[in-house]
Amino acid sequence: MDKNSVSRTNVIGGSEVVAISVELDKGVIHETNSLFWDTKGNEVLGATSLPHYGAFVSEENCKLFGDVSGKKLLEIGCGSGHSLQYLGERRASELWGMDISENQIEKTKQHLTECGLSAKLICSPMEEECGIPENYFDFVYSVYAIGWTTDLEGTFRRIAAYLKKDGAFIFSWSHPIHKCVVEEKDTFVFKKCYFDESWYSTSLGGSTLTLSDRTLSTYVNALAKAGFLIEHMIEQSDEEIIQSWGNSSKFAKKAKMLPVTFVIKARKL
Ligand SMILES: C[S@@+](CC[C@H](N)C(=O)[O-])C[C@H]1O[C@@H](n2cnc3c(N)ncnc32)[C@H](O)[C@@H]1O
Repeated sequence: MDKNSVSRTNVIGGSEVVAISVELDKGVIHETNSLFWDTKGNEVLGATSLPHYGAFVSEENCKLFGDVSGKKLLEIGCGSGHSLQYLGERRASELWGMDISENQIEKTKQHLTECGLSAKLICSPMEEECGIPENYFDFVYSVYAIGWTTDLEGTFRRIAAYLKKDGAFIFSWSHPIHKCVVEEKDTFVFKKCYFDESWYSTSLGGSTLTLSDRTLSTYVNALAKAGFLIEHMIEQSDEEIIQSWGNSSKFAKKAKMLPVTFVIKARKL
């Protein structure tokens, strides 16, 4: 750590981490995060692929997609390819995926091939023009990837452009309240200011990642600015999934008390 850097507390995956504040420098952040995902992608995936929108929310219960047969779908931050597989098996007519990490794209390709499926795959940051067609998709979706963007409004504008009119954008991310609170001796304690959206770097398993925790209103207002109408929002964890984690799970205990994931379904006007 640079001796001039300011140390701070953030919450990643339910644990408190020591982080340092960093400037929003898109190039540096992309380099850091693509390296993180190139090397750590396999280890940190958890419940971030459909049918899971996160540890305690499932498409099986929410049914946000409905019938996808014959529909054209694009995943932003396709990661391991498991979400594309889930929707491909439900007879989507076209699968597209994009991701900043070459290794993740390779993983998606291999996984889909093993499942007898195929997708058009593009390696690019979601913030940038990368040859994805406009006014083309019935659904654009993203499971735990949108929050990595360095330009939320620009990314939502791009996603709106990819969708046909009345197309749906569905995404999930860590709930910003979850990113502020940790459990300490049976008490939930605020460790970070909810309103602090500044960028930070931290080390996870020996690799560095850079993120910012945006408030819920930042997401909602960016969607409105990009021309979306919010149709549905989920904050609640699924009681059955919580039960399945057992009584000793601290994470499940937290999910009972406050939202750990949020999911939004928005319609392009
Ligand atoms: C939690 S994973 C998504 C997992 C995916 N939903 C699945 O089904 O496997 C987040 C993904 O976002 C990608 N990512 C991070 N920053 C990105 C950016 N700026 N543009 C595009 N993809 C990015 C990472 O490489 C990673 O694969």
